[in-house]
Amino acid sequence: MELLNSIKQAYFKIGIHTAPPGTLLYRLNQMVKAGSYLAQSGRRTQPVAEHALYDQDGLRSIHNHDFMSDPAFVRAYQRGVQAASDYHWHWRVHVGLWAARLAARLPGDFVECGTNRGFLSSAIMKDLDWDKAGRRFYLLDTFSGLAERYVSVEEKKGGVLERNRRELESGFYTTSVEEVRTNFAEWKNVCIIVGAIPETLEQIDTQCIAFLHIDMNCSPPEVAAIRHLWDRLTPGAPVLLDDYAGFGYEWQKIEMDAFATERELSILSLPTGQGLLIKPP
Ligand SMILES: C[S@@+](CC[C@H](N)C(=O)[O-])C[C@H]1O[C@@H](n2cnc3c(N)ncnc32)[C@H](O)[C@@H]1O
Repeated sequence: MELLNSIKQAYFKIGIHTAPPGTLLYRLNQMVKAGSYLAQSGRRTQPVAEHALYDQDGLRSIHNHDFMSDPAFVRAYQRGVQAASDYHWHWRVHVGLWAARLAARLPGDFVECGTNRGFLSSAIMKDLDWDKAGRRFYLLDTFSGLAERYVSVEEKKGGVLERNRRELESGFYTTSVEEVRTNFAEWKNVCIIVGAIPETLEQIDTQCIAFLHIDMNCSPPEVAAIRHLWDRLTPGAPVLLDDYAGFGYEWQKIEMDAFATERELSILSLPTGQGLLIKPP
């Protein structure tokens, strides 16, 4: 415990209040938390079997995640992997598919702001058998990483541009819209819109939206997108915010909370790092 506390203090001194995954402090925290959980009376007293533990993508949980072996989920997830590679986003994709299935019962088209290689949107289209869905999926991205002119001063100070550079260099962010087109060529009714949001938002020519996914890893274009599209969302439509509660994405939460508060709404913060908002009736 002494070691843990001295590492914590060192982190606090440099302004880090939550240990980044993969660091020694993170692991020590996990061990202490697991120990106190197991020590609680009336709780599980045997160590949790490794296969029952979900531990990836910043989320460690012993709660039920049997969706991972559901054949429909496996098929959809694999299509996401085919589009990109395996990001170990299972729980995030589970949330995304849940929201998309809900949206499929409502009138309207689907929109994703921040598509990259199309992991989540490919999984959704596979899951909903898109050609039979009778609606369009608008996919917006620069397909070349963040548009620097739409990154806020605060986010620049927080290192967002350096992260963008790393994502481009590592190949996590695509720079080939042709590859993305090839991935989506399997389906009809896909509308790929290339360029920087907010400039491209006018090209979304539907008046009725049942599903909105926002995932651009910086706040100004995200807030511009939700503001621009909000009135066109069908009542009951889910708006999924990929980075809302993510570690290192604090400005997205601050700005999205401000948007929600203006409308007397609140955003559901999910342990996956996502945020969920439902357009009220
Ligand atoms: C994390 S990736 C999206 C991942 C994607 N939703 C998936 O399921 O694989 C973020 C994407 O946002 C895009 N992006 C960032 N800022 C943008 C902007 N202002 N306009 C359009 N796209 C932007 C980046 O190019 C990048 O591809």
